[in-house]
Amino acid sequence: MKTTLAKPFIKWAGGKTQLLDEVKQSLPTDLCQRTNVIYIEPFVGGGAVLFWILQEYPNITHAIINDINPELICTYQTIKNSPIELIDQLEIMQMQYIRLDAEGRKNYFLEKRRLFNSKQNSDITTASLFIFLNKTCFNGLYRVNSKGEFNVPHGKYTNPKICDNENLLAVSKLLQKVDILCGDFSETLKFAGENTIFYLDPPYKPLSNTSSFTSYAIGGFDDKDQVRLRDFCKQLSQQRALFVASNSDPIEKKTGKPFFDQLYYQFRIKRVCAPRFINANPNNRGVVPEIMISNVTNL
Ligand SMILES: C[S@@+](CC[C@H](N)C(=O)[O-])C[C@H]1O[C@@H](n2cnc3c(N)ncnc32)[C@H](O)[C@@H]1O
Repeated sequence: MKTTLAKPFIKWAGGKTQLLDEVKQSLPTDLCQRTNVIYIEPFVGGGAVLFWILQEYPNITHAIINDINPELICTYQTIKNSPIELIDQLEIMQMQYIRLDAEGRKNYFLEKRRLFNSKQNSDITTASLFIFLNKTCFNGLYRVNSKGEFNVPHGKYTNPKICDNENLLAVSKLLQKVDILCGDFSETLKFAGENTIFYLDPPYKPLSNTSSFTSYAIGGFDDKDQVRLRDFCKQLSQQRALFVASNSDPIEKKTGKPFFDQLYYQFRIKRVCAPRFINANPNNRGVVPEIMISNVTNL
């Protein structure tokens, strides 16, 4: 029988599907032989690295994921615990949406967006609305306004796959070995230890004032948060955990030097090229230089 590989169940800005090879090269070369490894991803987003790593390294028997976005985390928990009920709701929405004309689809989308933003829904309804909106909104973006309301307009996909039963079931199966948390990344420090490996993929520091896409959640992620993250990485090293972190590669205006080279001077930094398809500004799609920082030493 063919087994379906689990893959991200949503499109997510900053998704790492295109960078998996680079992530692999930054991991310890003997990772597949290690036992009792715990994988921790404090900014999980769409989970491209999570799903890949758990299937590539079956010796990782336990994982912990976290994100600050409560609706995203509610969706992970619902897929883990109640996949059948979720699929039932998504199938109903898929049937209702697909048979409408363009105007009807737009109105249906706006009604579901209002319901989602009311934040008065059961976990299963929140999760099904979250997936529905991701599949039918403009470009699969997730963006909130200052009140924390999802405000992405309707997209124009002809035949969006709102309910991918096979993938949701495969994801649910894989999530059985994953603990799912919602909060600031710093709350995962308590799990750091000798057998842990962290992959850190924070909201990127914008390359310019106009290219910013940091509104995954209220509050954003500013330079103070980038410094907090660097201190977190130092702490991980002190607690003998391994980490790999991704970020953009901006030049600091004041010094004319790359921002992260200064911040992470004591760690290994590698420059990579990432194809980018989701960006609010079409000029910033294409191949973008990124960096990978780590404390892994492969001889
Ligand atoms: C670049 S995305 C991660 C993308 C992910 N690697 C993927 O493949 O889809 C960054 C994530 O960090 C989350 N985030 C933002 N601020 C955070 C914080 N302070 N603590 C934890 N997560 C945060 C956002 O909600 C977003 O999902």
